[in-house]
Amino acid sequence: MTSSNLTITVLGAGYVGLTTAVLLANANFKVYLIEPNDERRQVIQSGKSFFYEYGLDVLLEQALNSDFLVVTDSYETAVTNSRVVFSCVGTPDNPDGSSNLSYVFSAAEETLKYAQPELVYVQKSTVPVGTGQKIEALFVEKAPNLKLRYISNPEFLREGTAISDTLFFDRVVAGGRDKEAVNLVIDIYKDLEEQRERLAQLSKIPIAPRVDQYITTSLNSAELIKVTSNAFLALKISFANSIAILADKADADVVEVMDAVGADHRIGRAFLNAGRGYGGGCFPKDVSGLISSALDYGVDLQIMESAQEQNRLMPGYIVDRIQQALDNSLAGKRVAVLGLAFKAGTSDVRKSPGVAIANKLHEAGAHVVTYDPEAQEEAAIDLFRGVEDSESIEATVKGAEAVVLTTEWPEIIDFPASKYAQLMHGNVFFDAVNQYNALDATSNSLRYIGVGHRAE
Ligand code: UDX
Repeated sequence: MTSSNLTITVLGAGYVGLTTAVLLANANFKVYLIEPNDERRQVIQSGKSFFYEYGLDVLLEQALNSDFLVVTDSYETAVTNSRVVFSCVGTPDNPDGSSNLSYVFSAAEETLKYAQPELVYVQKSTVPVGTGQKIEALFVEKAPNLKLRYISNPEFLREGTAISDTLFFDRVVAGGRDKEAVNLVIDIYKDLEEQRERLAQLSKIPIAPRVDQYITTSLNSAELIKVTSNAFLALKISFANSIAILADKADADVVEVMDAVGADHRIGRAFLNAGRGYGGGCFPKDVSGLISSALDYGVDLQIMESAQEQNRLMPGYIVDRIQQALDNSLAGKRVAVLGLAFKAGTSDVRKSPGVAIANKLHEAGAHVVTYDPEAQEEAAIDLFRGVEDSESIEATVKGAEAVVLTTEWPEIIDFPASKYAQLMHGNVFFDAVNQYNALDATSNSLRYIGVGHRAE
């Protein structure tokens, strides 16, 4: 079996599924994208993504116009024609922190009904180690004659840079029992790799050469690689944040510390940016999912529990510091919160620290006004009643006693300190992402406070 002229079904049009489907279709694979939600499907069919992701819409439009991409809710239409299925369905967390795998299993069961013999079923959704073996068992139990092949191919793309991360990857991991199926998955990525310069130009993203590599492993290792990668990055952030709190107390600067610590190539500078902590649809869920699945194997991952707890504490720590800076009282004081997305480049507000900080400030009695260039609408559901939203940085900051930068949008980080100072009533300038030019702030009479980071 070769990867050329393959028909592929992608299950689920979330961040991972839509990006995967659109890129494969632009690399001339025939792709069926299954999205059961009518509203989302209609938006996608009109050539628009229902979330903000740079470069995606132009590729989506191109894929739809070329007929290489078909968006449907019908497993029958899609799977009957496909040799390969990529499962990219959601894995939300349960209230106890474990992963909710109901979509993962229902997608596998639904696929079974229409699968061709020897179909290659590729799991891209993040699942606890051991899940693949359960799905393999399900395939054997329900359709022994079909001889379906199951591969774990974890996804490493980040929101905001999803296209770039998929085209210019550090590694593609594929793990499974069937060598031919593993190689087929690798070949699909190699075909995509051959087209990457063209696709980068089309979506207007920079060409970012990487030392990319293809890694094949056992099924269980592939599953564990994904959660371990995310857990380790979350650990780095929480570690940086715990050192930031020490730096605040010890009159040191965490940015200086991490610049020097990260200069050691064994450690690396990435993901050591201290601030308001991590959010999003992956790190919080993957950390709690790993803790929970480890417990199922009788392993107590205390190190990850500490990382999780450190992250949980950060918004409260920041609100306490803002309160101290405002003479120990937030009551009735106007505070501008700039940034509701869990990071720049996305409209996603899942587990967003900016939202948590706005809500905590509100609970402490502040008059909170928020702004985000992309995430305002999505954040409205999570913000407490009484937290105001605003249409611009200017309108948000006007008359504020304190400004809090919670997402590193260029628009917010590059907004001149002189203008912040001019618009504000007070002068407390809290940089919860440690990204603003601190000297610029202080030279404009703002009282700059970072997380373990200062102006001098
Ligand atoms: C992450 C992984 O990076 C990606 O490989 C995986 O496929 C999905 O999960 P994502 O959630 O899109 O991607 O965002 P990422 O850029 O990793 O940032 C996650 C959170 O950590 C954000 O809230 C970000 O602001 C925060 N962060 C990141 C820090 O607080 N400090 C840092 O140094 C880096």
